[in-house]
Amino acid sequence: MTDTLLILPGDGIGPEVMAEVSRIIDWFGDKRGLKFDVSEDLVGGAAYDVHGVPLADATMAKAQEVDAVLLGAVGGPKYDNLDFSVKPERGLLRLRKEMDLFANLRPAQCFDALADFSSLKRDVVAGLDIMIVRELTSGIYFGEPRGIIEENGERVGINTQRYTESEIDRVARSAFELARKRGNKVCSMEKANVMESGILWREVVQRVHDADYPDVELSHMYADAGGMQLCRWPKQFDVIVTDNLFGDLLSDVAAMLTGSLGMLPSASLGAPMANGRPKALYEPVHGSAPDIAGQGKANPIACILSFAMALRYSFDQGDEATRLEKAVEKVLADGVRTADLMQAEGGTPVTTAGMGDAILAALEAS
Ligand code: NAI
Ligand code: MG
Repeated sequence: MTDTLLILPGDGIGPEVMAEVSRIIDWFGDKRGLKFDVSEDLVGGAAYDVHGVPLADATMAKAQEVDAVLLGAVGGPKYDNLDFSVKPERGLLRLRKEMDLFANLRPAQCFDALADFSSLKRDVVAGLDIMIVRELTSGIYFGEPRGIIEENGERVGINTQRYTESEIDRVARSAFELARKRGNKVCSMEKANVMESGILWREVVQRVHDADYPDVELSHMYADAGGMQLCRWPKQFDVIVTDNLFGDLLSDVAAMLTGSLGMLPSASLGAPMANGRPKALYEPVHGSAPDIAGQGKANPIACILSFAMALRYSFDQGDEATRLEKAVEKVLADGVRTADLMQAEGGTPVTTAGMGDAILAALEAS
């Protein structure tokens, strides 16, 4: 079976950081025998310039077929005044919607060399490696009824938190599958003390666990207490699974445990395909950074770590993913820094390509 990968560099710094990932993919092909069938296509403003839409139908179809999609970033000032229907972001939204990517994975990983970037004490975050799985396509952001209505002479804002058993079941499975490739531990967060959807959430997660994942350690926590625990001692967690709203909040909190936007990867997973692998889109958390685009200043690590996630979660190459993460860790420990990682005590400043060179050299030495 050939592993297929669709690369969508996008706009702004997207192509710059993706160029470094491409070199790393080639290295894994040459030196580790990981042969990918890689195709590249346009998304966002780059697609609009050529096709008049931010994602062509042919690209969408391709994304549905491959084992993994790796995306850079979309958007930029050039496209800010476009009609909403063809804005660059719509390309990304179409991918997420049509691939039905219901599980959003946001790791919070803190490399020792960057522990001082955190707003928390070094001991609390150094070496941290946790994964938040946020349900992404249901819950209070989508539930009906919703709207602002008139009632008893005043306006009322209404949103509905709504989860079906099958929606909870599938995201729970994603979390348990991930846990098996990591620390084998899942903590599910809801508010079963005050919410009906929370009661159902807890029950379904427990049921999925008992039936199909009894080998994974499962615990439950109220989401507010979870937020507290994330700041107090985040290393107690491995995988956290939670709903759309709580996941939105908790993943932003977790991101700040680790520092720079240029370091944060993410993934969005859907249902398993015929070959058993989930539909998957990997992308850095950051955007197209127009303020630094074209200057060789972008940090490629977020995108490189997104590829490491693809190796682990789509291609079952956990050891090679670890090899890549260790290479990043080594380079950071050596003081190699893109501009966003420069601090008072210094380090060696490098360009985007310089960071790629250093990571390739570390891979070579691994
Ligand atoms: P941004 O993430 O592009 O940039 C925020 C700040 O972080 C900027 O100062 C930027 O220079 C810096 N930064 C971001 N990534 C970096 C990296 N890899 N290395 C070094 N510094 C980095 O967010 P912003 O400025 O709000 O949005 C810019 C454009 O990106 C907009 O058009 C926005 O719509 C789009 N965007 C796209 C996203 C995506 O493709 N998933 C996500 C967020 C924004
Ligand atoms: Mg948010």
